[in-house]
Amino acid sequence: MTHILAIDQGTTSSRAILFDAQMQRVGTAQQEFTQYFPQEGWVEHDPEEIWDSVLNVCRQVMDKVGVAADQIAGIGITNQRETTVVWDKTSGKAIHNAIVWQDRRTAEICQRFRDAGCEDDVTAQTGLLLDPYFSGTKVKWLLDTVPGARDRAEAGELLFGTIDSFLIWRLTEGRVHATDATNAARTLLFDIHKGNWSAEICDLLDVPLAMLPEVRDCAADFGQTGLFGGMIPILGVAGDQQAATIGQACFQPGMMKSTYGTGCFALLNTGTQPVESKNRLLTTIAYQLGGQRTYALEGSIFIAGAAVQWLRDALRIIDSAPQSGELAAQADPNQHVVLVPAFTGLGAPYWKPECRGAMFGLTRNSGRAEIARATLESIAFQTRDLWHAMQGDWGAEADVILRVDGGMSASDWAMQGLSDILGAPVDRPVMQETTALGAAWLTGMKAGVYPDQAGFADTWALDQRFEPILPESDREAAYARWKRAVQATMAF
Ligand code: G3P
Repeated sequence: MTHILAIDQGTTSSRAILFDAQMQRVGTAQQEFTQYFPQEGWVEHDPEEIWDSVLNVCRQVMDKVGVAADQIAGIGITNQRETTVVWDKTSGKAIHNAIVWQDRRTAEICQRFRDAGCEDDVTAQTGLLLDPYFSGTKVKWLLDTVPGARDRAEAGELLFGTIDSFLIWRLTEGRVHATDATNAARTLLFDIHKGNWSAEICDLLDVPLAMLPEVRDCAADFGQTGLFGGMIPILGVAGDQQAATIGQACFQPGMMKSTYGTGCFALLNTGTQPVESKNRLLTTIAYQLGGQRTYALEGSIFIAGAAVQWLRDALRIIDSAPQSGELAAQADPNQHVVLVPAFTGLGAPYWKPECRGAMFGLTRNSGRAEIARATLESIAFQTRDLWHAMQGDWGAEADVILRVDGGMSASDWAMQGLSDILGAPVDRPVMQETTALGAAWLTGMKAGVYPDQAGFADTWALDQRFEPILPESDREAAYARWKRAVQATMAF
């Protein structure tokens, strides 16, 4: 058994990646699926479409590479986090579309609990904030809204899971209802200090404990699937940002990664002690191995690559994402257009779900290039907001070097710009498929075919380090413009 199959179930597509015994990627298959926007601020996925896409990509990549089930030592799952599915225990059918992490429909529910003074207690247990981003209020909404759902949930007929749980349930044909500690840590229902579901918060949100999956280590036995022509064990599970942290080998306290996908998520490993944020970052579980939890501070930005998609699909000023860097490089350096891409609200450190995007500093000469540059810069400015918040929480003396990955990290222009705005080096690894690699390593390590943690960390290799070249005065002037633009957007 020489291969590991990683399933990366993301926000806009499902991917299956096969790794060989040397942890080299030997094949990939990818399938996009429909994004549903039933109302302003609502985002849904059809769980059946997700499931079909996962089955398809797994079968496609196995066919493409010519690998059979008996050559696969294990399956690893990594997934878009927080996205919420509630399904019927008997039929396996979801009672409603999945409510996606970006969905803001529970903003009012969160406000109500905040007004009632619940946030401090929720944060103390979960490390999270009362924001619609997390699963807890989405489950509550489903049980309160779908006819008959609450009665069925109380009668033990319904199960809740994030996407990993739903896939495990489907892959094992209903035999296993489980999740891992990193996904559990994103639900708003999990006590990250004790490592169990919080009965108190479940009670507050009216979520029956019986609906919740069993929480396991990231490298553990999650059952077996027989859907690919032979039995294959599922041995690794982690939320996608945590999987990227693992794939980037950020195993030491003070190591930080930032992944540029739909959104941007920066995680700083803080070791075996959770750090309470004073700067509105999240405290979360980076990974749990051998029953030992390693914690992280996380900064979550909702719109990063999605802003580049906006250039392509809504403004139509580029044909493909890589063109954004080329266009931005042509921008007039004397113009200062600033975009605040709060299309689905602002995440860390502002947490303003009701806020919407804005653009500042337009002149008659502002055109496609200036807007493209403002878009890419907005991602760097948001990273700097997180960087500042992290340094505030972790200690400014920390000599943190940022490891980057995700689609946008392939752009030299964007990564140089990021280093310039941060005023700090940015490291891009050779292997940029870090999310899938993280899931594959968890699985291969559990299966005994991949190296241990230290051996895996030794395989991390640098592709390029970007050093800041922008003069400090320009950097600070640009960042001050961003801060003014954010304040004005929030005030609008
Ligand atoms: O918290 C949401 C995050 O897990 C989604 O990641 O890569 O699917 O945009 P991605």
